[in-house]
Amino acid sequence: MRHLKEFLVDLARPKRENPGERELVATAFLLLFAGYETTVNLIGNGVYALLRNPGQFDALRADLTRVPAAVEELLRYDGPVGFATLRYAGEPLELGGVAIAADEFVHVAVGAANRDPARFDAADRLDLARDPAGHIAFGHGIHHCVGAPLARLEAQVALTRLLRRFPRLSLAADDVAWREGIRIRGLTSLLVRPNE
Ligand code: HEM
Repeated sequence: MRHLKEFLVDLARPKRENPGERELVATAFLLLFAGYETTVNLIGNGVYALLRNPGQFDALRADLTRVPAAVEELLRYDGPVGFATLRYAGEPLELGGVAIAADEFVHVAVGAANRDPARFDAADRLDLARDPAGHIAFGHGIHHCVGAPLARLEAQVALTRLLRRFPRLSLAADDVAWREGIRIRGLTSLLVRPNE
């Protein structure tokens, strides 16, 4: 107990002397960007995908226990992270037949990997009944998204509530506008009709 107490005091004291505002701001920035922009756009892209596939929308509404599985397919089909953060090759390597020199940067197209026809049958088709395990919407390896369980929960709650509240929701316009930029994939607006 004494050692643990000393350990914690040693951690707390430098923070009191130097509150580390830059670190605090950087952390809040990261959480806001990584935690908000992503989930918002998963919900937007997911609702858009469902509204363009009314048969699957109806089937899901008829059995809300399938929402968690549907969220996985929506993550695969049109997740909010188009590209992962930049990587640099530590040594020369070959990936998918492409030679990459040391120090070259590598931009992983998460969205493309999730539509890889070698990995998923009819990859461009939304299929809420498929098993989309192996999608990399939350990344892979040591930097795998730390917020994934929270993001899944948020999307599940949002979709369940929306389907209950607006069971006959439909698209109000055929065209939608997408945000600019490649990292976050999401809509700038989605016009819907409640059809109540
Ligand atoms: C649908 C929602 C989300 C998606 C699709 C998503 C996606 C990702 C991806 C692909 C990565 C890995 C990036 C890379 O390797 O370059 C990542 C990392 C991260 N995510 Fe998320 N994320 C989501 C929600 C969240 C939430 C809700 C939080 C926090 C509350 C969060 C916090 C983070 C953090 C801190 C990292 C960096 C982890 C590390 O580098 O070790 N994310 N996310």
